[in-house]
Amino acid sequence: MPEREPIGVIGAGWVGLVTAACFAELGHDVHVRDIVQEKVESLARGEVPIYEPGLSDLILQNRERLHFTTDMGDVLQSAQLLFCCVDTPPLYSGDADLSRVERVVEELGDSREHAIVMKSTVPVGTGRSIRRRRDDLGYVSNPEFLKEGTAVEDFMHPDRVVVGAGPESQDFGDRVAALYEPLGGPIVRTDVESAEMIKLASNAFLATKISFINEIANVSEELGADVNEVARGMGLDNRIGPQFLRAGIGYGGSCFPKDVSALKQLAGNTGYHFQLLTAVIEVNELQKRRTIQKLQKHLGSLVGKDIALLGISFKPQTDDIREATSLVLSARLQSEGAHVRAFDPVAGARAADLLGGADIKDSALDALDGAHGAVLVTEWPEFRELDWGEVKDRMAQPLIVDGRNFLDSELLERQGFTYEGVGRAHAPALGAPTPVR
Ligand code: UDX
Repeated sequence: MPEREPIGVIGAGWVGLVTAACFAELGHDVHVRDIVQEKVESLARGEVPIYEPGLSDLILQNRERLHFTTDMGDVLQSAQLLFCCVDTPPLYSGDADLSRVERVVEELGDSREHAIVMKSTVPVGTGRSIRRRRDDLGYVSNPEFLKEGTAVEDFMHPDRVVVGAGPESQDFGDRVAALYEPLGGPIVRTDVESAEMIKLASNAFLATKISFINEIANVSEELGADVNEVARGMGLDNRIGPQFLRAGIGYGGSCFPKDVSALKQLAGNTGYHFQLLTAVIEVNELQKRRTIQKLQKHLGSLVGKDIALLGISFKPQTDDIREATSLVLSARLQSEGAHVRAFDPVAGARAADLLGGADIKDSALDALDGAHGAVLVTEWPEFRELDWGEVKDRMAQPLIVDGRNFLDSELLERQGFTYEGVGRAHAPALGAPTPVR
């Protein structure tokens, strides 16, 4: 075996590209296969189709070690560890759609030299089911824990690396673990099912933490507490920790919503009713919709009102709009009769078709101009830097619903805005809606 083992990456999506670029950075030859010809061609030219900080640079710097192809044969010839990074989107039933994973498995010929290293998030039991049909191949579960926006950093400085392998694939497990050793994080070796469960349980726990703090926020609003202070006080307890206690308008993205519902379904398939996760999902759905009530509290009926959405992506530093709260808000606002305009520093073009008739603007000021209310959906830093004095002059009514508790509420209130955060002591409720200019 060469000192730095060549590896294969199947699926040049977000996880696949980050994995490929980071392993190339660690000195490996990486053979990346995707079925979309244009994507492969543009990657070979050094053009990266997604926005992820640091990724383009890494791909450019390691061009000589990165090989892009549509041909699985090329990858099988060059590498034995095949990282499966295709997506597993949710089906209508809430179960994960494994058709892409299955297609990859079918494409791999009989070989005792090759192992599938599963990075795609799959239901617990997937590895066992694949092994049952394909006992000629090695199988290692190696879930990803990358956050969009800091994925390269997360890969290079992992909190932990999980490597799950059955007794028959221990050698492959050793080889996968060895790839990560230079990174220095703890490597957790388990069986395949436990590795699969670690991934789902981690995301479900984090989602639970968010829904929990969101419910504390909602109760705090009624009782006069400030959820930011509450979270600070709670987070200093080492057993709780400060992370994922930011109240807001709900979690979104490609992982949490899908993984929480996949784990709930998985439990349901065995006859177990995972009550806690049912509540976590429901709280998240309701949280998105509470924003509408906050607008109505100040504006009355939303019919004919212009509402600006600041931010479209599910979080900052990404153009990913999967399960973004903006999509739900846009649809709900329009069904209430409002005209929606939206701005996002990077996700505007991607969102145009999905915001259902919302007007995508070229700048935050354009979106705010003449608006009767604005909702801060995504905490992009540039929104904090806006000239709020000018914004106030431009808006038809100076109402801000800060869905991420991100803006300087005192500054805004000093400037004459009506400010509504999430779970915070806010300006006394208005009796009648402020007249519209
Ligand atoms: C997540 C997991 O963190 C990662 O380990 C997994 O591999 C993929 O899913 P990601 O989807 O990139 O990563 O987003 P993350 O930063 O975890 O945030 C998820 C959502 O939760 C966002 O919509 C964010 O706005 C929201 N969130 C996060 C909160 O509402 N409050 C918080 O305190 C933290």
